[in-house]
Formats: sequence, structure tokens, C-alpha cells
Amino acid sequence: MDISYSDSIPNNVELASDKVLQRALEHWQPQFRAWWGEMGPEGSSAYDVYLRTAVSVDRAGWAQFGYVKMPDYRWGIFLNPAEPDRKIAFGAHRGEPVWQEVPGEYRANLRRIIVTQGDTEPASVEQQRHLGLTCPSMYDLRNLFQVNVEEGRHLWAMVYLLHRFFGRDGREEAEALLGRRSGDVDNPRILGAFNEPTPDWLSFFMFTFFTDRDGKFQLSALAESAFDPLARTTRFMLTEEGHHMFVGRNGIRRIIDRTVEIMTRERTDDPRRLRALGVIDLPTIQRYLNFHSSVTVDLFGADLSSNAATFYTTGLKGRFREEHIGDDHVLRDAAYPVLELADGALRGREAPALNALNERLRDDFVRDSVAGVDAWNSALEKRGIELRLRVPHKAFNRQIGPLAGIKVSPDGRVISAADWEANVRDWLPTAEDREYVQSLMGRVIAPGQFANWISPPASGINGQPLDCEYVRFG
Ligand SMILES: [Fe+2]
Ligand SMILES: [Fe+2]
Repeated sequence: MDISYSDSIPNNVELASDKVLQRALEHWQPQFRAWWGEMGPEGSSAYDVYLRTAVSVDRAGWAQFGYVKMPDYRWGIFLNPAEPDRKIAFGAHRGEPVWQEVPGEYRANLRRIIVTQGDTEPASVEQQRHLGLTCPSMYDLRNLFQVNVEEGRHLWAMVYLLHRFFGRDGREEAEALLGRRSGDVDNPRILGAFNEPTPDWLSFFMFTFFTDRDGKFQLSALAESAFDPLARTTRFMLTEEGHHMFVGRNGIRRIIDRTVEIMTRERTDDPRRLRALGVIDLPTIQRYLNFHSSVTVDLFGADLSSNAATFYTTGLKGRFREEHIGDDHVLRDAAYPVLELADGALRGREAPALNALNERLRDDFVRDSVAGVDAWNSALEKRGIELRLRVPHKAFNRQIGPLAGIKVSPDGRVISAADWEANVRDWLPTAEDREYVQSLMGRVIAPGQFANWISPPASGINGQPLDCEYVRFG
């Protein structure tokens, strides 16, 4: 299972033994590099960056650190080791051996699932490509680049599956993944949140906190797939996703720390005074949180979905931690609550569990987000601050599904359009908020220096000191 670095594409899938596949990927590789050059981190091609590269999938080898120029990053193909005798854990094929090839009747759906996942990976690189120009520190710049190269690797992971298992259709889809562009009117990325701009570092940290967490839940559901190569590749991707969420969790935590430091020193919670002092007031952080949470919650799709039912029943996509759920894993007669509007309020209604699988994954995601925000709240509590940050109700600011038609406050009350208009400035970032946050974005790149609006982290990368030269600009 070692990765051969003598190959032009590092891998643990014995690429060298499949010449046709190797040639197809070697054909795609220069297109990928051209895309990286055009849409990857702006102006970064000469930088030497202290990056982690996976050299094998075991504990010791998946995190090797060293200086790399990003265009030379060894984007590889790594699958977790096969579990011997792995059986399908859910759906109509439950108990049967997992598949090493794609069953013909599920080919179109599997391709669609892989393409949808694959499309998010380059999309986030595109969304984040200007952020390096306004980094709050060299440490943060390095973390941004680490996330970017790993999203590039996640694209490789999906493209490998397309090339290896889907023939000509797969090759066409792999090219299309490099053709779409985040936010492009004519050829946008597939999912809404991946067409939103990420214009500043508060947005970036919120994105990695919420939207990479969507990644965690989607990948966890695919890690249960009966199609074993998909399960194994997503299991390895999840180890990298953990770092992306760490970047968001700690980034916001450090912004909060700095704001609270100034609030305590100046004995004020007045946003205007805090802004005059160059930090981000907590209500602004809450509005950004509301925006990114609601946009991400939409990624889970419609509350009731016959596609979700089909994907589950046919074994393509399971639930979060499927094996730990104590039910029949078939769900033919099971129910699950979804929200509906009744007498002017939201109310849970039992729906067929198979059709409600998007909603269930969304609920799992919201619970996980709440736990993450609670960790910020305990920091606030410890510092004697009364305000608490809140994950908005899942029906707030929805654009997808039946809830898109109604107006709901962050605490879950159904309200009139007039009430919405009267309050939306308190709930979602305003143009002034965005302008203010944008005005803070300078470029701090001296080793060990940090922008005024964010605290230094508790420790450096891989045991390195905070003033390590994580990026050498060359
Ligand atoms: Fe990813
Ligand atoms: Fe990610």
C-alpha cells in the first residue's frame, strides 16, 4: 500500500499496473495544473510553503511536513486500506459483500453523486483565491494554502473514481470539473453555497467552520457506500477535512478572543467604539455566522427527496455513522420528523424516513455546529461576557425546499415579510458590515506578526514556533 513517488502521480492504487488509466490521468494532470495556475491562490506560484503532504494513509505517513512550491505539490490518489469481507450496511442489499465495480443499474446515480462532491472541491479553491492578498498573518496564510492544496487533492480523489470506473463519461465529467467556475453566470459550480464569494477572512473562517463541516457530513454518508472505492477514498478525505474545520473553529475563536480582550480593556460592548478600535464586534460575528450557517444548511437539499431515498435503498449513500444507529437500516416503515407550516408556526410532522434522509443529515450537521459554537460560548463565559453566539434555526433564511417560501427569524418564529424587512439588518451581514470587515483586511506577513483584529493561535504548525517563516516569498 506504499505510495510510489517514482510515478508521476503518487498513489496507493497501483496505478502503474493500469496503463490505460495512468495515461488518462496523465492527460488530465496538465489540465489540472493549468486550472490551478489560473484559479488557484493568486500570485502564489513562486512561494515556498510549509505544507503537509500525504505520503501514505497510515498514522505516521499521512502528514509529512516540508517546504513546497504549490504548483509542484504532489497531488496524489490515496484510498484507505480495504476492510476484508466488508458488507453493505444498509438498504436493499444490506448484508451482501460491498462492490469493487459499479453495478450497471446504479451507474448514472453514482456518477452524479461523485460529480456533485467533486465539483465542490475546486469551487472552494476558486472562492478563496484572493484571500492570500489580505492574510492576517503568515501562519494563517499557510493554513489557507494547506486547505487549498487539500481541496485540490479531493478533486483528484473524485477524478480518479471517474476515470477508473466510468469510462468515457467519466473522462468528460472530469474535464467539466475543470470547466465550471465558482460564481460564473454561464457555467457556475453545481451547488449554491459554492458560488458565493468568500471576500474576507471572517467569511473564510465561517466557511471552513460551516461549509467544510457540510463536507464532513456528506463524506461520512459516502464513507458508508456499498461502492467500496468511494467509501475508502472518502474515509481518507475525512482525515483532511478535520484540519479544515480546525482552521475555522480556531480562526473564529481567535477573532472572539481579540474582541473580548478589547471589550474588557475598554469596558464597552458598543459596536461603534469597538469598530473604531479596529476589532470585530460580536453582533457582526453573529450575523456572519447566521449567513454561513443558513447557506450551508441549504446544501443538504430538499427536506423530502425521492433521490435521497433511492440513493439509500440502492446502497450508494448511507447515513452519518450508519453502523452506530440502532434500527433495521432499511427504513421501509420508519418515520422521521420534517418541519411544516401549521397555523402560522413551524411544527414537526412525521414523514417517511427514507424520503427524509436529507433532513436527517441536516439535523446531524446542525447538532455538530451547535457543539462547535458552544465551545466559543464557554470562552465568552469564562471571560465574563454575557452575550452568547447562536446557530440560527434551520428554517432561517432558506433558499431551498418548502421552507424557502416563508420568513423565519433566527430563533425559529414564522414572521411576516414586513417583520423580516424590519429586522434583517440585525440578522444578516449588511453592506456596512461587509465594508467594515473588508476595511480591516490588510496583509500581515512578517513572521510572528498578527493583524490587530485577531489573536495569535495557542501554538504553531507541527510544533514549529509562531514566528516560523511558514511562507517564503522567494
Ligand atoms: Fe474537500
Ligand atoms: Fe474541506
